[in-house]
Amino acid sequence: MTVRINPSILSADFVNLERELGTIASADLVHVDVMDNHFVPNLTFGPQMVGRIQDVSTLPLDVHLMISDADRWAPGYAELGVFSVTFHAEAASDPVALARKLRQIGARAGIAVKPGTPIDPYLELLTEFDQLLVMTVEPGFGGQSFMTDMMPKLRLARAAVDKSGLDVWLQVDGGINHDTIAVAAEAGASTFVAGSSVFGSPDRAAQIDVLRRAAAAHSH
Ligand code: DX5
Ligand code: ZN
Repeated sequence: MTVRINPSILSADFVNLERELGTIASADLVHVDVMDNHFVPNLTFGPQMVGRIQDVSTLPLDVHLMISDADRWAPGYAELGVFSVTFHAEAASDPVALARKLRQIGARAGIAVKPGTPIDPYLELLTEFDQLLVMTVEPGFGGQSFMTDMMPKLRLARAAVDKSGLDVWLQVDGGINHDTIAVAAEAGASTFVAGSSVFGSPDRAAQIDVLRRAAAAHSH
């Protein structure tokens, strides 16, 4: 399985973002956390900032929307030309219609579930999504501890994706480091978001390499 490492710029220096992006050039995608201080109790940036990141990034953007009323706001992010837009199941009133709209605009469509949200309903709808994001922390902040008890949910999703034969990426986000990435890879994740473990490291390229090797050694 192809392993993808997506550093989350939530843990980067926002004042020097272009320079920070240069330090993660060996990653696969840039994970961009959009928070509205409503769906989650934290605030990051909106479409104007994401548009500028899209302008300067050499890597494709993996936008994670932690915002309310995704039906209304998510299409605007796809229109920026980003590679992937993932919205939360809890924040969308019609996830299938929204995913179709994102794809129609030209982005990959992802759906995310918080730790307390079952993934089962979306496993019946796999043709509608390009990515499933199983949160392994409560969304809102970097630097929290990985929730091992999300692994049964991940295994369920992996079994459904494999059975479907579709190229749906299975992403984990929250508390990923050189130890927990092995656990998540073993449970079936293929795409790994890592914020503090990459940006907290003095040598980001080396850390990306460590994460990639650990994931590859445990994925199947
Ligand atoms: C959390 C964000 C994550 C965050 C992960 O709500 O969605 O992407 O940056 O940070 P770490 O890797 O530090 O848990
Ligand atoms: Zn995220």
